[in-house]
Amino acid sequence: MPNPIWESFWSDTVNHEWWKRPAQEVLQFIDMQSVAQRPKVLDLGCGLGRHAIAFALAGFQVTATDVASTAIKHLDRWAAEVGVCVKTKICDILDDETSQPEYDIVLSYNVIYHGYREDFARAISYVHSLLKCGGVFFFTCPTRRDGKYGHGEQVAPHTFLCTKSMTPGDIHYFADEQDFEQLLEGFRTVSRHIYEGYWDNNGTQQRYSNWTVITEKTE
Ligand SMILES: C[S@@+](CC[C@H](N)C(=O)[O-])C[C@H]1O[C@@H](n2cnc3c(N)ncnc32)[C@H](O)[C@@H]1O
Repeated sequence: MPNPIWESFWSDTVNHEWWKRPAQEVLQFIDMQSVAQRPKVLDLGCGLGRHAIAFALAGFQVTATDVASTAIKHLDRWAAEVGVCVKTKICDILDDETSQPEYDIVLSYNVIYHGYREDFARAISYVHSLLKCGGVFFFTCPTRRDGKYGHGEQVAPHTFLCTKSMTPGDIHYFADEQDFEQLLEGFRTVSRHIYEGYWDNNGTQQRYSNWTVITEKTE
């Protein structure tokens, strides 16, 4: 189902420069991975494709999916320009057609918290079904110290219809340690860090506080 909020966000090329630069922690993660041992990567909610391109340039076999057709079309053009192969698909993160344990790495950077806690939980268990045993899931999501927490209408516990996000009107769930303990069943935590700082939200300095979680599928 098309998502007008994200289509509109990616249609505005002003938003492209920042979102085309890969995150440092993802580049470091890519450096630590071996193509021989973990060749198949899925970038779930890939946006313009900055991390899909980085993985492909490093020699991985990359699939990238996103609900926004504008973003996927951008990635298709970018991959052709760079001369790498990235298999793309426009679909929801919970794509019913793909539920085989075929991936060695799933990356979902700033994606799976869009929605309610139930959606967050469903996304984690769906990724579990996509990963091979020993496969790695890298994801990020905001902590409860993030500047967006508590702003906008509260629609469920720790869940807000955000007014201070870059895509106002979407729902964000803010996870804590207890959520990870409850929801990451069948995974072993490899690392869990909080990155904090400030970003420029249309001229206002706004605090960000994000979990970066790396887990390995154990069973
Ligand atoms: C903050 S952007 C991050 C994009 C990308 N992961 C990156 O780091 O550059 C969030 C992305 O998630 C996508 N997204 C949000 N909800 C989604 C869903 N239910 N299914 C698929 N994609 C979704 C949006 O279209 C958007 O491209």
